Amino acid sequence: MNSQITLPVNELPKNWYNILPDLPEPLPPPKEPETGPSRMEFLSRTMIKECLRQEMANERWIPIPEEIRELYVHMGRPRPLYRAKRLERRLGLKRVRLYYKREDLSPTGSHKTNTAVAQAYYAMKEGKTTLTTETGAGQWGTALAYAARLLDLECVIFWVKSVYDWKIDRRTLMKLLGAKVYASPSQQTEIGREVFSKNPEHPGSLGIAISEGLEYAETHRDSVYCLGSVLNHVLMHQSIIGLETIKQFEIVDEKPDLIVGCLGGGSNFGGIALPFIGEVLQGKRECEFLAAQSLAAPNLVKGEYRYDFCDVAEHTPLLKIYTLGHKIEMPPIKADGLRYHAAAPIISLLRHHNIVKAVAYPTDERAIFEAARLFLQSEGWLPAPESSYAIRAGVDEALKAEKVGVEKVICMNISGHGFLDIAAYKEKLGIN
Ligand SMILES: Cc1ncc(COP(=O)(O)O)c(C=O)c1O
Repeated sequence: MNSQITLPVNELPKNWYNILPDLPEPLPPPKEPETGPSRMEFLSRTMIKECLRQEMANERWIPIPEEIRELYVHMGRPRPLYRAKRLERRLGLKRVRLYYKREDLSPTGSHKTNTAVAQAYYAMKEGKTTLTTETGAGQWGTALAYAARLLDLECVIFWVKSVYDWKIDRRTLMKLLGAKVYASPSQQTEIGREVFSKNPEHPGSLGIAISEGLEYAETHRDSVYCLGSVLNHVLMHQSIIGLETIKQFEIVDEKPDLIVGCLGGGSNFGGIALPFIGEVLQGKRECEFLAAQSLAAPNLVKGEYRYDFCDVAEHTPLLKIYTLGHKIEMPPIKADGLRYHAAAPIISLLRHHNIVKAVAYPTDERAIFEAARLFLQSEGWLPAPESSYAIRAGVDEALKAEKVGVEKVICMNISGHGFLDIAAYKEKLGIN
Protein backbone atom coordinates (compact mmCIF):
# COMPACT_ATOMS: atom_id res chain seq x y z
CA MET A 1 0.00 0.00 0.00
CA ASN A 2 1.29 3.50 -0.88
CA SER A 3 1.55 5.84 2.08
CA GLN A 4 -0.46 8.53 0.21
CA ILE A 5 -4.20 7.97 -0.29
CA THR A 6 -5.57 10.45 -2.80
CA LEU A 7 -9.07 11.22 -4.08
CA PRO A 8 -9.62 12.31 -7.68
CA VAL A 9 -10.97 15.85 -8.17
CA ASN A 10 -14.34 14.51 -9.34
CA GLU A 11 -14.75 12.85 -5.94
CA LEU A 12 -14.66 16.22 -4.14
CA PRO A 13 -17.83 16.23 -1.98
CA LYS A 14 -20.77 18.17 -3.44
CA ASN A 15 -22.37 18.93 -0.07
CA TRP A 16 -21.21 20.03 3.36
CA TYR A 17 -22.44 17.99 6.30
CA ASN A 18 -24.62 19.75 8.88
CA ILE A 19 -24.76 17.71 12.08
CA LEU A 20 -27.60 19.71 13.71
CA PRO A 21 -30.43 17.28 12.76
CA ASP A 22 -28.37 14.30 13.98
CA LEU A 23 -27.34 15.63 17.41
CA PRO A 24 -28.49 13.59 20.44
CA GLU A 25 -30.58 16.59 21.58
CA PRO A 26 -31.42 19.93 19.93
CA LEU A 27 -28.58 22.42 20.15
CA PRO A 28 -29.45 24.94 22.91
CA PRO A 29 -30.31 28.17 21.04
CA PRO A 30 -28.32 31.41 21.40
CA LYS A 31 -29.73 33.71 24.08
CA GLU A 32 -29.89 37.46 24.58
CA PRO A 33 -28.26 38.65 27.81
CA GLU A 34 -30.54 40.35 30.34
CA THR A 35 -29.10 43.81 29.80
CA GLY A 36 -27.96 45.88 26.83
CA PRO A 37 -28.97 46.00 23.17
CA SER A 38 -30.04 42.93 21.14
CA ARG A 39 -26.92 40.94 20.25
CA MET A 40 -28.77 38.97 17.55
CA GLU A 41 -29.68 42.20 15.76
CA PHE A 42 -26.07 43.32 16.10
CA LEU A 43 -24.87 40.10 14.45
CA SER A 44 -27.45 40.35 11.68
CA ARG A 45 -26.01 43.82 10.88
CA THR A 46 -22.36 42.79 11.01
CA MET A 47 -22.22 39.24 9.61
CA ILE A 48 -22.82 37.53 6.26
CA LYS A 49 -26.53 36.78 5.84
CA GLU A 50 -26.04 33.41 4.14
CA CYS A 51 -23.72 32.29 6.97
CA LEU A 52 -26.32 33.30 9.56
CA ARG A 53 -28.93 31.31 7.60
CA GLN A 54 -26.60 28.30 7.55
CA GLU A 55 -26.06 28.73 11.31
CA MET A 56 -29.66 27.65 11.93
CA ALA A 57 -30.12 25.30 8.93
CA ASN A 58 -31.78 22.02 9.68
CA GLU A 59 -31.01 20.12 6.48
CA ARG A 60 -28.39 17.40 6.90
CA TRP A 61 -26.69 18.20 3.55
CA ILE A 62 -26.00 21.75 2.35
CA PRO A 63 -24.98 22.01 -1.33
CA ILE A 64 -21.54 23.56 -1.91
CA PRO A 65 -21.92 26.19 -4.67
CA GLU A 66 -20.01 25.24 -7.81
CA GLU A 67 -17.87 28.41 -7.54
CA ILE A 68 -16.72 27.37 -4.05
CA ARG A 69 -15.99 23.81 -5.25
CA GLU A 70 -13.82 25.36 -7.98
CA LEU A 71 -11.98 27.41 -5.35
CA TYR A 72 -11.49 24.23 -3.28
CA VAL A 73 -9.94 22.48 -6.27
CA HIS A 74 -7.85 25.58 -7.04
CA MET A 75 -6.34 25.41 -3.55
CA GLY A 76 -5.49 21.75 -3.82
CA ARG A 77 -8.55 19.84 -2.59
CA PRO A 78 -9.20 16.99 -2.17
CA ARG A 79 -6.21 16.77 0.20
CA PRO A 80 -4.45 13.44 0.71
CA LEU A 81 -4.71 11.14 3.70
CA TYR A 82 -1.41 9.49 4.65
CA ARG A 83 -0.61 6.22 6.36
CA ALA A 84 2.18 7.12 8.83
CA LYS A 85 4.31 4.06 8.04
CA ARG A 86 7.59 5.69 9.01
CA LEU A 87 6.25 7.02 12.29
CA GLU A 88 4.76 3.59 13.08
CA ARG A 89 8.17 2.01 12.46
CA ARG A 90 9.91 4.63 14.59
CA LEU A 91 7.48 3.99 17.46
CA GLY A 92 7.76 0.20 17.06
CA LEU A 93 4.02 -0.19 16.48
CA LYS A 94 2.85 -3.69 15.53
CA ARG A 95 -0.86 -3.59 16.22
CA VAL A 96 -1.65 0.11 15.83
CA ARG A 97 -1.96 1.77 12.42
CA LEU A 98 -1.60 5.57 12.23
CA TYR A 99 -3.03 7.85 9.55
CA TYR A 100 -3.00 11.62 9.11
CA LYS A 101 -4.99 14.08 7.02
CA ARG A 102 -2.96 16.77 5.25
CA GLU A 103 -4.61 20.15 5.91
CA ASP A 104 -1.06 21.53 6.14
CA LEU A 105 -1.02 21.51 2.32
CA SER A 106 -3.31 24.55 2.26
CA PRO A 107 -1.90 27.60 0.37
CA THR A 108 -1.68 29.69 3.55
CA GLY A 109 -0.71 26.79 5.78
CA SER A 110 -3.90 25.69 7.54
CA HIS A 111 -7.42 24.29 7.28
CA LYS A 112 -8.81 27.82 7.79
CA THR A 113 -8.98 28.43 4.01
CA ASN A 114 -11.88 25.91 3.80
CA THR A 115 -14.28 28.35 5.44
CA ALA A 116 -12.46 31.54 4.38
CA VAL A 117 -13.18 31.04 0.66
CA ALA A 118 -16.81 30.12 1.42
CA GLN A 119 -17.33 33.24 3.56
CA ALA A 120 -15.58 35.52 1.05
CA TYR A 121 -17.73 34.09 -1.75
CA TYR A 122 -20.99 34.74 0.13
CA ALA A 123 -19.85 38.25 1.17
CA MET A 124 -19.05 39.07 -2.47
CA LYS A 125 -22.50 37.75 -3.54
CA GLU A 126 -24.12 40.03 -0.93
CA GLY A 127 -22.35 43.08 -2.40
CA LYS A 128 -19.86 43.56 0.44
CA THR A 129 -16.47 45.11 -0.25
CA THR A 130 -14.54 44.48 2.98
CA LEU A 131 -14.02 41.51 5.26
CA THR A 132 -12.99 42.18 8.86
CA THR A 133 -11.77 39.68 11.39
CA GLU A 134 -9.62 38.79 14.36
CA THR A 135 -6.74 36.36 14.37
CA GLY A 136 -4.79 34.59 17.11
CA ALA A 137 -2.13 32.32 15.67
CA GLY A 138 -2.37 34.33 12.45
CA GLN A 139 -3.50 31.35 10.38
CA TRP A 140 -7.11 32.54 10.18
CA GLY A 141 -6.10 36.09 9.26
CA THR A 142 -3.82 34.80 6.51
CA ALA A 143 -6.56 32.49 5.20
CA LEU A 144 -9.10 35.31 5.07
CA ALA A 145 -6.59 37.68 3.43
CA TYR A 146 -6.02 34.98 0.79
CA ALA A 147 -9.74 34.38 0.22
CA ALA A 148 -10.47 38.13 0.04
CA ARG A 149 -7.76 38.54 -2.60
CA LEU A 150 -9.11 35.66 -4.72
CA LEU A 151 -12.54 37.31 -4.70
CA ASP A 152 -11.31 40.92 -5.11
CA LEU A 153 -12.35 42.08 -1.63
CA GLU A 154 -10.54 44.17 0.99
CA CYS A 155 -9.51 42.57 4.28
CA VAL A 156 -8.95 44.22 7.71
CA ILE A 157 -7.36 42.06 10.40
CA PHE A 158 -7.07 42.62 14.17
CA TRP A 159 -4.24 40.44 15.38
CA VAL A 160 -3.62 39.58 19.06
CA LYS A 161 -0.63 41.82 19.89
CA SER A 162 1.52 39.22 21.70
CA VAL A 163 1.53 37.15 18.49
CA TYR A 164 1.60 40.05 16.00
CA ASP A 165 4.87 41.14 17.57
CA TRP A 166 6.79 37.90 16.98
CA LYS A 167 5.23 36.33 13.85
CA ILE A 168 6.86 38.83 11.52
CA ASP A 169 6.96 36.58 8.45
CA ARG A 170 3.27 35.70 8.71
CA ARG A 171 2.48 39.41 9.07
CA THR A 172 4.43 40.01 5.86
CA LEU A 173 2.41 37.30 4.07
CA MET A 174 -0.89 38.91 5.13
CA LYS A 175 0.29 42.30 3.89
CA LEU A 176 1.61 40.76 0.68
CA LEU A 177 -1.92 39.47 0.13
CA GLY A 178 -3.11 43.08 0.43
CA ALA A 179 -4.67 42.97 3.91
CA LYS A 180 -4.59 45.81 6.47
CA VAL A 181 -3.22 44.31 9.68
CA TYR A 182 -3.48 45.94 13.14
CA ALA A 183 -2.03 44.77 16.47
CA SER A 184 -4.92 44.33 18.92
CA PRO A 185 -5.70 46.20 21.19
CA SER A 186 -5.46 48.82 18.42
CA GLN A 187 -6.27 52.50 18.01
CA GLN A 188 -8.86 51.71 15.30
CA THR A 189 -11.80 50.93 17.60
CA GLU A 190 -13.34 52.21 20.81
CA ILE A 191 -12.85 48.92 22.67
CA GLY A 192 -9.22 48.75 21.48
CA ARG A 193 -8.52 52.31 22.68
CA GLU A 194 -10.22 51.59 26.01
CA VAL A 195 -8.17 48.45 26.72
CA PHE A 196 -5.01 50.21 25.55
CA SER A 197 -5.56 53.26 27.75
CA LYS A 198 -5.85 51.05 30.84
CA ASN A 199 -2.73 49.07 29.95
CA PRO A 200 -0.54 50.13 26.98
CA GLU A 201 1.46 46.89 27.45
CA HIS A 202 -1.65 44.69 27.11
CA PRO A 203 -0.68 41.52 25.16
CA GLY A 204 -4.19 41.26 23.67
CA SER A 205 -6.43 38.21 23.45
CA LEU A 206 -8.68 36.56 20.89
CA GLY A 207 -11.73 37.87 22.77
CA ILE A 208 -10.55 41.51 22.50
CA ALA A 209 -9.61 41.07 18.84
CA ILE A 210 -13.08 39.65 18.07
CA SER A 211 -14.63 42.70 19.72
CA GLU A 212 -12.50 44.99 17.55
CA GLY A 213 -13.38 43.15 14.33
CA LEU A 214 -17.10 43.32 15.12
CA GLU A 215 -16.95 47.00 16.02
CA TYR A 216 -15.05 47.81 12.81
CA ALA A 217 -17.66 45.98 10.70
CA GLU A 218 -20.47 47.82 12.53
CA THR A 219 -18.94 51.21 11.91
CA HIS A 220 -17.73 50.84 8.28
CA ARG A 221 -20.00 50.67 5.21
CA ASP A 222 -20.20 47.42 3.23
CA SER A 223 -17.97 45.64 5.73
CA VAL A 224 -18.81 42.25 7.21
CA TYR A 225 -17.27 40.40 10.07
CA CYS A 226 -16.04 36.84 9.47
CA LEU A 227 -15.30 34.30 12.18
CA GLY A 228 -12.82 31.46 11.71
CA SER A 229 -14.03 29.02 14.34
CA VAL A 230 -16.70 28.18 16.95
CA LEU A 231 -19.88 28.89 14.95
CA ASN A 232 -22.00 26.13 13.40
CA HIS A 233 -21.53 27.31 9.80
CA VAL A 234 -17.73 27.36 10.20
CA LEU A 235 -17.68 23.75 11.42
CA MET A 236 -20.03 22.85 8.57
CA HIS A 237 -17.70 24.36 5.93
CA GLN A 238 -14.84 22.44 7.57
CA SER A 239 -16.78 19.16 7.26
CA ILE A 240 -15.17 18.88 3.82
CA ILE A 241 -12.14 17.48 5.70
CA GLY A 242 -13.99 14.58 7.29
CA LEU A 243 -16.15 13.86 4.23
CA GLU A 244 -13.02 13.40 2.11
CA THR A 245 -11.41 11.31 4.87
CA ILE A 246 -14.40 8.93 5.02
CA LYS A 247 -14.03 8.25 1.27
CA GLN A 248 -10.26 7.80 1.64
CA PHE A 249 -10.64 5.21 4.40
CA GLU A 250 -13.13 3.35 2.18
CA ILE A 251 -10.48 3.20 -0.57
CA VAL A 252 -8.05 1.38 1.76
CA ASP A 253 -10.84 -0.63 3.41
CA GLU A 254 -10.03 0.61 6.91
CA LYS A 255 -12.27 1.89 9.69
CA PRO A 256 -10.69 4.35 12.12
CA ASP A 257 -11.26 3.55 15.81
CA LEU A 258 -10.09 6.95 16.99
CA ILE A 259 -10.03 10.42 15.40
CA VAL A 260 -7.72 12.96 17.02
CA GLY A 261 -7.53 16.70 16.41
CA CYS A 262 -6.24 19.73 18.29
CA LEU A 263 -8.92 22.06 19.60
CA GLY A 264 -8.99 25.78 20.26
CA GLY A 265 -12.51 26.79 19.22
CA GLY A 266 -13.21 23.52 17.44
CA SER A 267 -13.12 24.10 13.67
CA ASN A 268 -10.45 21.63 12.52
CA PHE A 269 -11.50 19.07 15.10
CA GLY A 270 -15.15 19.47 14.11
CA GLY A 271 -14.14 19.44 10.44
CA ILE A 272 -12.56 16.02 10.56
CA ALA A 273 -14.72 14.51 13.33
CA LEU A 274 -18.33 15.62 12.66
CA PRO A 275 -18.95 13.54 9.50
CA PHE A 276 -17.71 10.46 11.41
CA ILE A 277 -19.70 11.42 14.53
CA GLY A 278 -22.82 11.77 12.37
CA GLU A 279 -22.40 8.16 11.25
CA VAL A 280 -21.85 7.04 14.85
CA LEU A 281 -25.05 8.84 15.91
CA GLN A 282 -26.93 7.18 13.05
CA GLY A 283 -25.67 3.78 14.23
CA LYS A 284 -23.57 3.25 11.06
CA ARG A 285 -20.11 3.05 12.65
CA GLU A 286 -18.18 2.86 15.90
CA CYS A 287 -15.41 5.32 16.55
CA GLU A 288 -14.02 7.47 19.36
CA PHE A 289 -13.03 11.13 19.25
CA LEU A 290 -10.28 12.90 21.17
CA ALA A 291 -9.62 16.66 21.29
CA ALA A 292 -6.06 17.71 22.20
CA GLN A 293 -5.77 20.99 24.10
CA SER A 294 -3.36 23.14 26.08
CA LEU A 295 -3.63 23.66 29.83
CA ALA A 296 -3.41 27.36 28.90
CA ALA A 297 -7.01 27.05 27.62
CA PRO A 298 -8.44 23.66 28.63
CA ASN A 299 -12.03 24.67 27.87
CA LEU A 300 -13.32 21.10 27.35
CA VAL A 301 -11.24 19.64 30.18
CA LYS A 302 -11.75 22.23 32.93
CA GLY A 303 -14.50 24.50 31.64
CA GLU A 304 -18.12 24.65 32.76
CA TYR A 305 -21.00 23.85 30.38
CA ARG A 306 -23.09 27.02 30.55
CA TYR A 307 -24.20 30.10 28.64
CA ASP A 308 -21.36 32.58 28.07
CA PHE A 309 -20.22 35.29 25.65
CA CYS A 310 -17.78 34.55 22.83
CA ASP A 311 -15.87 37.83 23.24
CA VAL A 312 -14.55 40.05 26.00
CA ALA A 313 -16.67 43.11 25.13
CA GLU A 314 -19.89 41.01 25.20
CA HIS A 315 -20.91 41.91 21.63
CA THR A 316 -22.06 38.36 20.89
CA PRO A 317 -25.20 36.56 22.08
CA LEU A 318 -24.80 34.03 24.87
CA LEU A 319 -24.03 30.53 23.61
CA LYS A 320 -24.17 27.30 25.59
CA ILE A 321 -20.52 26.28 25.60
CA TYR A 322 -17.80 24.69 27.68
CA THR A 323 -16.15 27.88 28.90
CA LEU A 324 -13.41 29.08 31.20
CA GLY A 325 -15.20 32.45 31.42
CA HIS A 326 -15.02 35.10 28.69
CA LYS A 327 -12.84 37.42 30.77
CA ILE A 328 -10.20 34.82 31.73
CA GLU A 329 -6.53 35.70 31.13
CA MET A 330 -4.67 32.83 29.47
CA PRO A 331 -0.88 32.38 29.63
CA PRO A 332 0.92 32.75 26.28
CA ILE A 333 1.97 29.56 24.48
CA LYS A 334 3.48 29.01 21.04
CA ALA A 335 0.33 27.24 19.82
CA ASP A 336 -1.60 30.51 20.09
CA GLY A 337 -4.46 29.15 17.99
CA LEU A 338 -5.46 26.96 20.93
CA ARG A 339 -5.81 29.92 23.32
CA TYR A 340 -9.56 30.47 23.36
CA HIS A 341 -11.81 30.49 26.40
CA ALA A 342 -14.57 28.27 25.01
CA ALA A 343 -15.33 25.40 22.64
CA ALA A 344 -17.90 25.51 19.81
CA PRO A 345 -21.53 24.87 20.89
CA ILE A 346 -21.72 21.70 18.76
CA ILE A 347 -18.50 20.27 20.18
CA SER A 348 -19.57 21.31 23.71
CA LEU A 349 -22.85 19.43 23.40
CA LEU A 350 -21.02 16.34 22.12
CA ARG A 351 -18.58 16.61 25.01
CA HIS A 352 -21.52 16.89 27.40
CA HIS A 353 -22.82 13.59 25.98
CA ASN A 354 -19.35 12.06 26.33
CA ILE A 355 -19.11 11.44 22.56
CA VAL A 356 -16.08 13.75 22.37
CA LYS A 357 -13.30 13.30 24.93
CA ALA A 358 -10.48 15.75 25.64
CA VAL A 359 -6.94 15.86 27.01
CA ALA A 360 -4.86 18.95 27.91
CA TYR A 361 -1.05 19.23 27.85
CA PRO A 362 1.22 21.42 30.03
CA THR A 363 1.96 24.98 28.99
CA ASP A 364 5.73 24.41 28.74
CA GLU A 365 4.84 22.57 25.48
CA ARG A 366 7.96 20.40 25.77
CA ALA A 367 6.10 17.18 24.94
CA ILE A 368 4.35 18.95 22.06
CA PHE A 369 7.49 20.19 20.34
CA GLU A 370 9.16 16.78 20.85
CA ALA A 371 6.17 15.19 19.07
CA ALA A 372 6.55 17.70 16.25
CA ARG A 373 10.25 16.85 15.89
CA LEU A 374 9.44 13.13 15.90
CA PHE A 375 6.86 13.69 13.16
CA LEU A 376 9.24 15.80 11.06
CA GLN A 377 12.07 13.31 11.44
CA SER A 378 9.93 10.29 10.60
CA GLU A 379 7.29 11.54 8.14
CA GLY A 380 9.22 14.53 6.80
CA TRP A 381 6.53 17.23 7.25
CA LEU A 382 6.81 20.16 9.64
CA PRO A 383 3.49 20.58 11.50
CA ALA A 384 2.11 23.80 12.98
CA PRO A 385 2.57 23.99 16.76
CA GLU A 386 -1.23 23.60 17.15
CA SER A 387 -1.32 20.47 14.97
CA SER A 388 1.50 19.01 17.06
CA TYR A 389 -0.99 18.63 19.93
CA ALA A 390 -2.95 16.21 17.73
CA ILE A 391 0.26 14.35 16.94
CA ARG A 392 1.19 14.19 20.64
CA ALA A 393 -2.24 12.82 21.58
CA GLY A 394 -2.27 10.39 18.62
CA VAL A 395 1.17 9.04 19.52
CA ASP A 396 0.26 8.73 23.22
CA GLU A 397 -2.91 6.80 22.35
CA ALA A 398 -1.01 4.58 19.92
CA LEU A 399 1.61 3.71 22.54
CA LYS A 400 -1.10 3.00 25.14
CA ALA A 401 -2.96 0.63 22.79
CA GLU A 402 0.26 -1.07 21.72
CA LYS A 403 1.25 -1.63 25.35
CA VAL A 404 -1.97 -3.46 26.16
CA GLY A 405 -1.89 -5.34 22.85
CA VAL A 406 -5.00 -3.79 21.30
CA GLU A 407 -5.35 -3.46 17.53
CA LYS A 408 -6.29 0.11 16.69
CA VAL A 409 -6.54 2.50 13.73
CA ILE A 410 -5.91 6.13 14.68
CA CYS A 411 -6.34 9.15 12.42
CA MET A 412 -4.78 12.53 13.29
CA ASN A 413 -5.70 15.79 11.62
CA ILE A 414 -2.64 17.87 10.68
CA SER A 415 -4.42 21.23 10.73
CA GLY A 416 -1.47 23.26 9.45
CA HIS A 417 2.24 23.48 8.61
CA GLY A 418 4.94 25.13 10.71
CA PHE A 419 7.03 26.94 8.10
CA LEU A 420 6.00 30.32 9.48
CA ASP A 421 6.56 29.14 13.08
CA ILE A 422 10.27 28.45 12.76
CA ALA A 423 11.06 30.99 15.50
CA ALA A 424 8.95 28.93 17.93
CA TYR A 425 10.79 25.75 16.94
CA LYS A 426 14.15 27.45 17.43
CA GLU A 427 13.19 28.67 20.88
CA LYS A 428 11.42 25.57 22.13
CA LEU A 429 13.91 23.00 20.82
CA GLY A 430 16.99 25.13 21.54
CA ILE A 431 18.21 25.24 17.93
CA ASN A 432 20.63 28.03 16.99
C1 LIG B 1 -3.02 25.40 12.44
C2 LIG B 1 -4.14 25.60 13.42
N1 LIG B 1 -4.69 24.53 13.99
C3 LIG B 1 -5.69 24.64 14.90
C4 LIG B 1 -6.17 25.88 15.29
C5 LIG B 1 -7.22 25.95 16.34
O1 LIG B 1 -8.44 26.42 15.88
P1 LIG B 1 -9.67 25.46 15.71
O2 LIG B 1 -9.90 24.81 17.05
O3 LIG B 1 -10.79 26.35 15.31
O4 LIG B 1 -9.33 24.47 14.65
C6 LIG B 1 -5.63 27.02 14.72
C7 LIG B 1 -6.14 28.36 15.09
O5 LIG B 1 -5.67 29.37 14.70
C8 LIG B 1 -4.58 26.88 13.76
O6 LIG B 1 -4.02 27.95 13.19
